[in-house]
Amino acid sequence: ATGLTELLLSRIRDVADYPEPGVVFKDITPLLADPAAFTALTDALAEVARDTGATKVVGLEARGFILGAPVALRAGLGFVPVRKAGKLPGATLAQAYDLEYGSAEIEVHAEDLSAGDRVLVVDDVLATGGTAEASLTLIRRAGADVAGLAVLMELGFLGGRARLEPALASAPLTALLTV
Ligand code: PRP
Ligand code: MG
Repeated sequence: ATGLTELLLSRIRDVADYPEPGVVFKDITPLLADPAAFTALTDALAEVARDTGATKVVGLEARGFILGAPVALRAGLGFVPVRKAGKLPGATLAQAYDLEYGSAEIEVHAEDLSAGDRVLVVDDVLATGGTAEASLTLIRRAGADVAGLAVLMELGFLGGRARLEPALASAPLTALLTV
């Protein structure tokens, strides 16, 4: 493993049986609290933004906001929040997606994305891929192109990468860590 991988891994805490028995929660708060690790993470994701030719960074509420906003600034790009439904005051596009139990909905301000934009989506974790998939659909419905999806951590055993293949088309999925 590289120095970056080791540094990031060392700052992610496994929490057993959270939020329910049998699940190991990946807690990134130690990483956020360490400025060296948070800077290294931000720099690595900003490099992805530059490599993919992104013109905007979309962060997925809530943990994708924490990672995505500094990445946008570091890359010199605008930041666009994709929020859980009902939080944005302006004209929005909404996209529903299925959860293990029930469904959820995310929204974006329609005016924040347009034709000519190339969007890098940033989030902390790729699990089943449902959240990311809905965000990619939203971005295309807004008329923008998808530059890629970049996450700190991919939970490989949940198959999110395969699920996202159609929605990503040829855009790259970058995971700094795979667990
Ligand atoms: C978590 C995580 C990702 C998403 C991944 O967010 O931060 O956004 O789940 O799961 P998926 O690939 O199966 O869609 P969550 O909505 O639980 O909470 P948050 O508001 O703390 O980010
Ligand atoms: Mg999230």
